[in-house]
Amino acid sequence: MTIATTFPRNPTASPTPVDVRAERMVDPGFGRVFTDHMAIAHYNAADGWHDLAIAPRQPLTVDPACAVLHYAQEIFEGLKAYRTADGGTALFRPEANARRFMASARRLAMPELPEELFVESCRALVRSEIDWIPDCDGGALYLRPFMIASEAFLGVKPSSDYIYMVLASSVGAYFKGGPKAVTIWASENYTRAAPGGTGAAKCGGNYAASLAAQAEAITKGCDQVVFLDAVERRYIEELGGMNVFFVFDDGSIATPPLSDTILAGITRDSLIALARDRGIAVREERYSLDQWRADAASGRLTEAFACGTAAVVTPIGAVKATSGDFTIGSGGPGQTSTALRAALVALQTGSAPDPHGWLDKL
Ligand code: PLP
Ligand code: COI
Repeated sequence: MTIATTFPRNPTASPTPVDVRAERMVDPGFGRVFTDHMAIAHYNAADGWHDLAIAPRQPLTVDPACAVLHYAQEIFEGLKAYRTADGGTALFRPEANARRFMASARRLAMPELPEELFVESCRALVRSEIDWIPDCDGGALYLRPFMIASEAFLGVKPSSDYIYMVLASSVGAYFKGGPKAVTIWASENYTRAAPGGTGAAKCGGNYAASLAAQAEAITKGCDQVVFLDAVERRYIEELGGMNVFFVFDDGSIATPPLSDTILAGITRDSLIALARDRGIAVREERYSLDQWRADAASGRLTEAFACGTAAVVTPIGAVKATSGDFTIGSGGPGQTSTALRAALVALQTGSAPDPHGWLDKL
C-alpha cells in the first residue's frame, strides 16, 4: 500500500490574536505555550495510516475505555525547529527521531509510523506554525509527536486503533534562568529502567515512573534526578529526561554506554560526533556514583553535564545523594560543556557549517 504523506491544512476558525501570541512568546519557558494547530493521523489495521491533516489544536474526545487510559500504550518524541542565521527555519535530525519513534513503537507493540510520514508531519506543522518561533534566547518551536492506543476495550492486548499527533510549543530555556549549573539528586531508592524493560523506548510510562524520584529530588533541593542501574545500583544511567556526560582533567569525555535501559539521545549522539570532530577523546563506558564522587574530590573529574533536546547542554554543578554530596569543579558551568553547547547551538541555528548534514531546512 502506498501511503500519502501530505498533511492538508484545515485552519482554525479563531487563531490566537497576534498581540496575545507575541505576549506569550516573550518568556515562554518550556511546554506551556501551544500553537493553534496540530498534525493528526489515524491508524487501524484495515486502512493503515489515514486521514492525515494539520488541524486546529483542540481537546480530544476519546472513549473512557480507550486503551491508553488504562494500560499506557503511548509513545512520544521531542524535537525542535530553529530559526536559522539566513532567515530560514530548520528541523534538527528529524529522521533520527522518526527512527527512534519506530523503535519505541515496536517495543510497545504499536504500529510503526513510516519515517517519511513522521518527518512530513513535522515539516507541515512547522510551516503552518512558523510565526510561533520565539525570538528569545534559545527560542525554538518544540515539537511533540506522540501516538496513543485508541481502541475502547478493557482486555490487555495491543490496541487495534491508534491516533498519531504532533503538538507545537513555543519554548525558551528548559531550566529557569538559562544554562547555569544545576544540582542533581542521585536516586538510590528508585530506579528508572530494568534490563528487558522499556528504558530505551520513549514511552509515557517511563516518565510516570520517574516522577516520585523527581519529586524526591525537588524535596532535596535539587533540579533533577539521576538514576543508577537497576541491577547493581552503582552505575550512572541517565536523568529523568536527559543523558549525562563526564569531563576529565586530560580533556577526554565519557558517557554511559547505550543499553536497553537508556534512551539513545539524539543530542548525546550529536555531541559525541561534535566532540570527536574537535579531537576530544570520547569513551562510552560505565561510571559509578562512587567513582564520580572520588574523581570530583581528586580533581580528575572537572565537569559533568546533562543533554537533551529540551535541556540542550546543561552543566551539573553539584550532586546530592544519601551516600554523600559533592561539588563538581567550581560548581558552575565548565569550559567543555560551554564550548560543546555553543558548537551545537551554532550548528542548529545555521550559524556554523553542518558537516554531518543534520539540518533539515524547510
Ligand atoms: N533520556 C531521556 C530519558 C529523555 O527523555 C531524553 C529526551 O528526549 C533524552 C535522554 C535526550 O534525548 P534527545 O537528545 O534525543 O532529546
Ligand atoms: C526532550 O528533551 O525532548 C524530552 O522529551 C525531555 C522531557 C521534556 C521529557
